[in-house]
Amino acid sequence: MKRVLTGIKPTAENLHLGNYFGSIKYMLEFQQSGEYDNFMFLANMHTLTQLHNSEDIKKNTLNLIRTYLASGLDPQKTTIFNPAKIPAHAQLNWVLSCVTNIGYMKRMHAYKDALAKNTEENITVGTFCYPILMAADIILYDVDYVPVGKDQKQHVEYARDIAARFNNIFKPDFFKLPNPWIQQSLATIPGIDGRKMSKSYNNYIGLFDDDKTIFKKTRAIPTASIPVQEPKNPDECNVYNILKLFLSDDEDKNIREGYEKGGLSFKEVKDLLYEKLVEFIGPIRYKSSEISDEEILNILDQGTNKAAEISSKKMLEINRLVGFDF
Ligand code: TYM
Repeated sequence: MKRVLTGIKPTAENLHLGNYFGSIKYMLEFQQSGEYDNFMFLANMHTLTQLHNSEDIKKNTLNLIRTYLASGLDPQKTTIFNPAKIPAHAQLNWVLSCVTNIGYMKRMHAYKDALAKNTEENITVGTFCYPILMAADIILYDVDYVPVGKDQKQHVEYARDIAARFNNIFKPDFFKLPNPWIQQSLATIPGIDGRKMSKSYNNYIGLFDDDKTIFKKTRAIPTASIPVQEPKNPDECNVYNILKLFLSDDEDKNIREGYEKGGLSFKEVKDLLYEKLVEFIGPIRYKSSEISDEEILNILDQGTNKAAEISSKKMLEINRLVGFDF
């Protein structure tokens, strides 16, 4: 059975549509098909590169798992786990650090982005080495597919490269080489300002947003000043680019026709987007409010035990291969 694994960082209280369509939705599809061995974890170790407040990390972690469950992830079909409780993640991180060159890490987009905002002296070693830990998270489980947004593609490619390098040095075919799993239409979900939806740009529509906030955010999406009767290009309209995530093929065809023929106003499309968002987010928000902390902790304990069993066996073999076996 092919194995799938992905994770989201608990950096904020509220996940957004980008996280849903770039990660959770794929996992729901893998889960639904019944043909994959599914793992979805909380990337809390990665969050430490951004957040140094234990109460916030704990609160965000509970909300993250709440969102996984309220979105439809079923712990019987998808193993949900906490890597910070599994020593093998940090152990493999070290082994991989010793076969990764600094030059490779310097080419990572995430590091370059950090460098654009900060001087090298002020960037933590954790931020710089972040892709190494991410590679450990993945290859420890001999994963086939890693569903992610386009922003994480380079990291999964590094995981693949470093797995191949390790195999080359220590044992052919030891680690499975993972593949990013990205659907073109979901690769980069736009935020309300048209840039990539992101917590750090504050341009997101959150999965816990209330109806009033959703209304304000949909109204705030900039549109071109084209008269209602004039034809418009739907692909150039950010309201449409978000709305299309929620449209059936027929609805999509009608809306595109409305734009292209003219006569459809931006206000009408914003109203429809608001309706669709409320219909989509409302149940997730409601279901998550019904999930207790206790339920979450139980699910995490069970998932973590299962993941630890797999990864500690793999780590024993890694230790043997590098010469740490006595
Ligand atoms: P994070 O927490 O930044 O994002 C979680 C997931 O959401 C996707 N995503 C998007 N996809 C499309 N459009 C967007 N606007 C958008 N915004 C976010 C991300 O691509 C990601 O899939 N490094 C990872 C966490 C991680 C991980 C892993 C993932 C750590 N170890 C191992 C997979 C496997 C991260 O920062 O994701």
